Amino acid sequence: MTDTTAHQTHDPSSEGDGGTRRDFIYVATAAFGAVGAAGAVWPLINQMNPDKSVLALASTDVDLSPIEEGQRVTVTWRGKPVFIDHRTPERIEQARSVAVADLPDPQTDAERVKEGHEAWLVMIGICTHLGCVPNGQGSGEAKGEYGGWFCPCHGSHYDTSGRIRRGPAPRNLDVPPYEFLDDTTIRIG
Ligand code: FES
Repeated sequence: MTDTTAHQTHDPSSEGDGGTRRDFIYVATAAFGAVGAAGAVWPLINQMNPDKSVLALASTDVDLSPIEEGQRVTVTWRGKPVFIDHRTPERIEQARSVAVADLPDPQTDAERVKEGHEAWLVMIGICTHLGCVPNGQGSGEAKGEYGGWFCPCHGSHYDTSGRIRRGPAPRNLDVPPYEFLDDTTIRIG
């Protein structure tokens, strides 16, 4: 098992902290190789000298408990940024009050989150146009016209469900495979 430290960023659109909330906090994540129980079998793994194809199978566990409502955090999974948004009720309502059929890539908000965990949006933070990392995670970053994320490379606007609303991106931001291990822990991958 390899411990990593993930960088988190703070969304200023969430009110109520009087400006005292931390802009940057850190959360521990744990990356697991496909073999599992890495501590016990490390000598074997070391001997096998796992290559990138093994590492590519790794999953990442994220403790959600330090992430406050309204906060957006970025973790890394398989070398990619993964956006985690602890959505406010307003953001959820915004995402669910959309005429889905009119969307460029029609998908309901419910299809993009886990049932019973609607406050948590988990997406790969890579624009589906040409691969830039959209803005919207950090303090003061532009979030586009739909309150979600904005890709400054060619002007793609994503909404509070990470769906493409305007601009050249052909698809919504991708949702990686993940599951809730308990109410405050997810495993990505
Ligand atoms: S890469 Fe995001 S709009 Fe082109």
